[in-house]
Amino acid sequence: MKISPLLYSLLAASLFISGCSGKDENKPKPPQTKAIKTQSGPAYIPPRVRPTPSNPTVNLPFNFPRSIGVSHSRGDTSQPYIAMTFDDGPHPTNTPRLLDMLRARNIKATFYVIGENVKRYPALTRRIVAEGHEIGNHTWTHANLKKLSDQGIRRELDRTKAIIISTTGVQPRTMRPPYGALFQRQREMIFREYGYPTILWAVDPQDWKRPGPSVVTSRILNSTRNGSIVLAHDLHAPTITAMPATFDGLLKKGYRFVTVSQLLAQKAAAQRSRSTVQ
Ligand code: NI
Repeated sequence: MKISPLLYSLLAASLFISGCSGKDENKPKPPQTKAIKTQSGPAYIPPRVRPTPSNPTVNLPFNFPRSIGVSHSRGDTSQPYIAMTFDDGPHPTNTPRLLDMLRARNIKATFYVIGENVKRYPALTRRIVAEGHEIGNHTWTHANLKKLSDQGIRRELDRTKAIIISTTGVQPRTMRPPYGALFQRQREMIFREYGYPTILWAVDPQDWKRPGPSVVTSRILNSTRNGSIVLAHDLHAPTITAMPATFDGLLKKGYRFVTVSQLLAQKAAAQRSRSTVQ
């Protein structure tokens, strides 16, 4: 086989080059850049992760005295404690999503559950309690209690109370009437017989009308004050979508999340300290 002079010189040149690169192995390697080059495809760039803000653990007591009174739409206004409440669940897809968001931020909320839904989703109801949230009585069928007799009200509350206890092992300590509808006489009857204060709200973003997640967030951020009880529904998916920005915005403003019972216990303590000062 004849090798042309041109090919010969090319071969010699390539041997020379590879010989040179062999000597370079002892030289210090250039510093590694942030992007890690893989054998195929583009360089890998690590994603930017924004840290999730965390609600500080608030060691307020959970037990409130009977002297706290029959109905409440807010707690004490001298401290930045607020209570997020979620009604009408548990819901099989929305509630787990919400629980993940709450857990990521160390936020404890209060769930006003419907008895029928507790019966349908017992494991989910247990998860709510296991993760430190409070459960309140929101009746069995989401009835308008203003239209019921006292006996009808008792049926709604008794059945719901019983299934919450048998499912989770904990007693609901407060109730919220569906639609906020409850006569003063009925509130007093429930407080006397069950020990449940009637819990209404100070902030209502009207999320059940589905105005869009950003509207829900801005309504809550604009209206929340010290001691606010905030109404929302884990029945509606857009409400859940609104929650990360809502939680993070409220934390940024300095608010601290507690449960409704903790808010009432703190309200009672504040009332006691004011009465001893006077
Ligand atoms: Ni409701």
